[in-house]
Amino acid sequence: MRGANPIRVIIVGFGVVGRGVARSMLMERERMLSTGMDLRLVGIADLWGCMVDEGGLDIAELCSLDGVLARKTSIDKNMSSYDLIEKADYDILVETTPTNKDTGEPGLGHIKAALKGGKHVVTSNKGPIVLAYGELSKLAEENNVRLCYEATVGGAMPIINLAREALAGNTIISVKGIFNGTCNYILTRMVDTKLPYEHALSEAQELGYAEADPTYDVEGYDTASKLVIIANTIFGMNSKLSDVEVMGITRVTPEAIKLAGDSGYSIKLIGEVSRDGSLSVAPRMVPKNHQLNVHGTLNAALIETDLAGEITVTGKGAGSIEAASAIMGDIASIWIELYKT
Ligand code: HSE
Repeated sequence: MRGANPIRVIIVGFGVVGRGVARSMLMERERMLSTGMDLRLVGIADLWGCMVDEGGLDIAELCSLDGVLARKTSIDKNMSSYDLIEKADYDILVETTPTNKDTGEPGLGHIKAALKGGKHVVTSNKGPIVLAYGELSKLAEENNVRLCYEATVGGAMPIINLAREALAGNTIISVKGIFNGTCNYILTRMVDTKLPYEHALSEAQELGYAEADPTYDVEGYDTASKLVIIANTIFGMNSKLSDVEVMGITRVTPEAIKLAGDSGYSIKLIGEVSRDGSLSVAPRMVPKNHQLNVHGTLNAALIETDLAGEITVTGKGAGSIEAASAIMGDIASIWIELYKT
């Protein structure tokens, strides 16, 4: 137990999500302090270099930076993300670099280095959890640290911790829903404003919802990645992306959307994972009065259980502050479990 000492955090990947985490630390600071939780941001890294201050970086100043750290003169351009992860003095690595579904890098290497060094890891990065959940959770266990990844699925919508903690007394039979904010935003804009697909996608990119490579979103691989994470971490399966039947939204036409609408349905990109091991992503017709018929960047998940029956959750699935909400929740639960006195 560290008593009332500060919990020292480093953020690796200071893009949309990383900056959201820094902003949230500032926004929540007074409330967290009143509960005894003193979070201190002691280092950040992005492609251009690192900034470190053991006394705590000036978050307000960092948040006022428009874009990359390279604009900051105090950045150390010779310090790599690994230098920061392996040599800095901190408690929790927040890993928010962009996802790579094929290699998991650079996030996978970052997470392994931190866990091996005895640091807790909180991440929004899907690639490493999709590709190496078993190995990473074993590393965390061997080094007696936590690996938390609520932000990898559903953004601000709670699902991983909900299923693993609040619903731990149930057998979960299936999870299905909308797990990609970008696709839901595009489909919503195509209906509400009759915006062409390409324009709606550009908007989603400008608003920071889409992946660095937006084909992950629209071709369904982002949803598929989230299903693999649900399958492996909630159902204890050993699934890979190649186990998921995937169809994205690129072939959904305005005519199909109109036809569905006229018959009382919305077209939504639905992901589904069942206890029997089947995983699929495809555009589906959802009745307009169904609980999964949510709009904009909202995600929704319908969890089918034996004792509780159906549980539905919904929340903003993409965005800077929304992903930060899940990351802050994971940081807080590490603090409550290990540091709170
Ligand atoms: N690109 C993702 C989405 C971000 O649109 O849902 C959150 O995982």
